[in-house]
Amino acid sequence: MTMTGRAKLAGVMGWPVSHSLSPVLHGHWLDSLGIDGAYVPLPVAPENFAEALRALAKMGFRGVNVTVPHKEAALAAVDAADALARRIGAVNTVIVGDDGKLTGTNTDGFGFLENLKEGAPGWNPAAGPAVVLGAGGAARAVVVALIDAGVPDIRLTNRTRDRAERMARDLGGPVTVHDWDDRGAALADANLLVNTTTLGMTGKDPLVISLDALPGAALVNDIVYAPLETELLAAARARGNPVVYGLGMLLHQARPGFEAWFGTPPQVTPDLRAHILAHLGQG
Ligand code: ATR
Repeated sequence: MTMTGRAKLAGVMGWPVSHSLSPVLHGHWLDSLGIDGAYVPLPVAPENFAEALRALAKMGFRGVNVTVPHKEAALAAVDAADALARRIGAVNTVIVGDDGKLTGTNTDGFGFLENLKEGAPGWNPAAGPAVVLGAGGAARAVVVALIDAGVPDIRLTNRTRDRAERMARDLGGPVTVHDWDDRGAALADANLLVNTTTLGMTGKDPLVISLDALPGAALVNDIVYAPLETELLAAARARGNPVVYGLGMLLHQARPGFEAWFGTPPQVTPDLRAHILAHLGQG
């Protein structure tokens, strides 16, 4: 639809931001819902981030998503961050209040869980241990979501063990740390395996892990979505495990921000997926 002078404004701040799928995603929702609004890419260098974020209210923006490398800086720059963002240590969604104050939240864990619910509706978080590969920013959101969903035993394994230890200490809950070399053995009795590392992503090293110990009913998820089916997911599928693809986390994490800025709850539909896949050249 045509934008008017009353168009509601939002966007995504990142550096670089040119590869972000968020403008495609939000743009599709704005179009299909017929909303008078815009969601624009905002390339902002780290040294300008705090100033640019503060300027949003002055320019009439209703908020933004924040992506790499600004998520931690956003936590410090907002006027108030909710408890979830503080636990995760990062903000990915900023909402400008009517008074111009900036509120920060983090919807990555929400997106992660909603993706599992959509892709594996029968999966029960309380039914057994979860193994999480990686201890970066994405892992924190995933582990917080798993703790809150009632997973009884969360086995964290990371190349740099210290980072996993620190995260386990920070987050509390039923989190245990396992050596990266023992990642295959950590899969015994697991009910879920999630890769949050960058391994297996297009252009990165492959993820090497033996799935021999993984129960056949365990759900396997990779938050990597380029390629759409990583080698981990292909291997899990080949041995009969249920799998959930990574792209859905990106789609679902965008829902709360869109609703806050534009006033309508959007849905993750087959039409949206087709639109994103076409954009990725895989439609
Ligand atoms: P993000 O915030 O997106 O999670 P990150 O903080 O850079 O990104 O974390 C990347 C994750 O991939 C980390 O768990 C990292 O392990 P380290 O903490 O040891 O760096 C993991 N990772 C990246 N390259 C890896 C490799 N070659 N082997 C094992 N793990 C790797």
